[in-house]
Amino acid sequence: MFDLKIINARIVTASDTFEAELGILAGRIEAVSRGTLGDAKETIDAMGRYVLPGGIDTHTHLDMPFGGTVSADDFYTGTVAAACGGTTTIIDFAMQGKGESLSSAVERWKAKAQDKAVVDYGFHVAITECTDAVIEELGTLAGLGVTSVKLFMAYKGALMVSDEILYRVMQRASGTGVLTMVHAENGDVIDHLSRRLQGEGKLEPKYHAASRPSILEGEATGRALALAYAASKAPLFVVHLTCREALDELTKAQRRGQPAFAETCPQYLLLTSERYDEADFGGAKYVMSPPLREKADCEALWSALFSGAIHTVGSDHCPFNFRGQKTLGKDNFALIPNGAPGIETRLPLMFSEGPRRGRISLNRFVEVVSTAPAKLFGLYPRKGAIAPGSDADIVILEPKSTQTLSAKTLHQNVDYCPYEGMEIAGRVRTVLSRGTPIVKHGRFIGKRGTGQFVERRPFDISIA
Ligand code: URP
Ligand code: ZN
Ligand code: ZN
Repeated sequence: MFDLKIINARIVTASDTFEAELGILAGRIEAVSRGTLGDAKETIDAMGRYVLPGGIDTHTHLDMPFGGTVSADDFYTGTVAAACGGTTTIIDFAMQGKGESLSSAVERWKAKAQDKAVVDYGFHVAITECTDAVIEELGTLAGLGVTSVKLFMAYKGALMVSDEILYRVMQRASGTGVLTMVHAENGDVIDHLSRRLQGEGKLEPKYHAASRPSILEGEATGRALALAYAASKAPLFVVHLTCREALDELTKAQRRGQPAFAETCPQYLLLTSERYDEADFGGAKYVMSPPLREKADCEALWSALFSGAIHTVGSDHCPFNFRGQKTLGKDNFALIPNGAPGIETRLPLMFSEGPRRGRISLNRFVEVVSTAPAKLFGLYPRKGAIAPGSDADIVILEPKSTQTLSAKTLHQNVDYCPYEGMEIAGRVRTVLSRGTPIVKHGRFIGKRGTGQFVERRPFDISIA
């Protein structure tokens, strides 16, 4: 007897689309059958809907001190929003504090998530102060189930690290099964441009974008990839890639045969720099790093998602309220906390604007929002798959419905939505987390604290 079965399911995975019944037992998928399964305590009829592996968002910043404030979603509100948007696993960034060990950062972040998260979670560590001891400690991270680290090439004076550190971390991390991720922008020149613009009295939100031109992202992306190549071809994952210059560097590295991976985000696929001209300080809503780019960049990113040059779509969910947080920079763009919300809209936007608009296939959509993140970040096939033995993290999506995105109806704990008023195709109806329904008829019905920390396996190029 199954605990739950899903009948009339049109299952969509990264490789196939087929009709089947799913049997779930003790939180796992027990059977995937093209015939009729035996009895279950509960049955969900998915007629007319798509059944997908739960979304995996490998780029979130919950309860994170940043830019003189703290991101507005904690692990409860942020994961409720994730669940309502079809995401059943997140990987959040544990930020190393000054003088802190990596394991202590992981413990601090675990304490933030425990008793709050409603979906499963893992962590990357963002290395902000890299000593010899930290380089040494990298060898123990995989043993904690934390198999990726992020380095910042931007945010000079706060988070930015040197090329030497980039090289040494890449070299050491790759030898210990840890994937290095980079925020690739040239922080030195951005810092100079930012100060110059402020000195000229150019203080509105649009000057945030002016201080971070795309060529500086291209330069840093190429530099990081060159350093990774020099570091014995260490695998490198470029987060939030936004522009053609960076894409050129990425594809060049891929052509020379190095393991180079990249993520983009819905905001870089769908929004452009005109947003910075929104009246009444509205441009501040889009102050994020890197900034929004041009339409031609969006098109290039869609092509790269289609071709496989870009592997995943993360949200970079880093929410700050417009009132009270973004307004910290009312008189100076450099004081606007960098980041925007997107944990809840990531998967629905990608469904609506990807396969529904013919930009990528349905299977590729599943791949970029779930399966590829699982493979690259050591979760596959436990997560990111619909197969016997996998966790029953499942999303049932109604393709024919539409919805209008609005901060008023989303669950993200933030007072604006970058896509306010946008009508999108499809709705997440039901979400299971390890077999337990946490979203039903589009409403959150789960319980605080039921999400579990997931230990991730070491990075494995044969799976990625
Ligand atoms: O503006 C952004 N992206 N804020 C979050 C931190 C980061 O750089 O990912
Ligand atoms: Zn970043
Ligand atoms: Zn980020």
